[in-house]
Amino acid sequence: MASELHKELLSGNEVWVRNTLKVKPDFFEKLAEAQHPQFLWIGCSDSRVPATEITNTVPGSIFVHRNIANMVVHTDTNLLSVVNYAVEVLKVKHIIVCGHYGCGGVKAAMTNGDYGYLNNWLLHIKDVYRLHEKELDGIADEGERFDRFVELNVQEQVRDLAKVSFIQDKWKSGEFPHIHGWVYSLKDGLIKDLGVAINSSESLENVYKY
Ligand code: CO
Repeated sequence: MASELHKELLSGNEVWVRNTLKVKPDFFEKLAEAQHPQFLWIGCSDSRVPATEITNTVPGSIFVHRNIANMVVHTDTNLLSVVNYAVEVLKVKHIIVCGHYGCGGVKAAMTNGDYGYLNNWLLHIKDVYRLHEKELDGIADEGERFDRFVELNVQEQVRDLAKVSFIQDKWKSGEFPHIHGWVYSLKDGLIKDLGVAINSSESLENVYKY
């Protein structure tokens, strides 16, 4: 019965606890004490891109924030609080912005479709299109243009993180955090490092530097 569907999650949880304890009897005891993740993950809410599974890591490894199209929006207090806690308290070494090819949010933003309330969120992605309009409009193949837009969107979110003043504060006193831009492929499960990592405000336009 569809109304009982959620119970599969609860029975799944019991199976997971049993299997986990078989491999590591003190797994929960240890994790309940504290978390010491080295990574902050900013990813898409898409159900097919779960941070820990696709990186073969376990609970406790990655502090996670996910939203539609892995966006860094500077008025998003949810995102900013997660990032602030990650760098100030957890002192993560690496922040990973991970987009994915086939992202519905990015796709919607490159069309003229009216998505109602969602239009407001999609505007931030459209702004990325405008920034790179020349390059993107120059790609004739729609699939290729979509893939490139996904990559450029990740690249811009990496830069948007670098514009955050409390992150720049961190760089004044040390080399961390490093901010990386990755794209996950739904088709083969592989992650591509875009090679756009930064750990200084050097490459930002002057107006963004504190
Ligand atoms: Co997506």
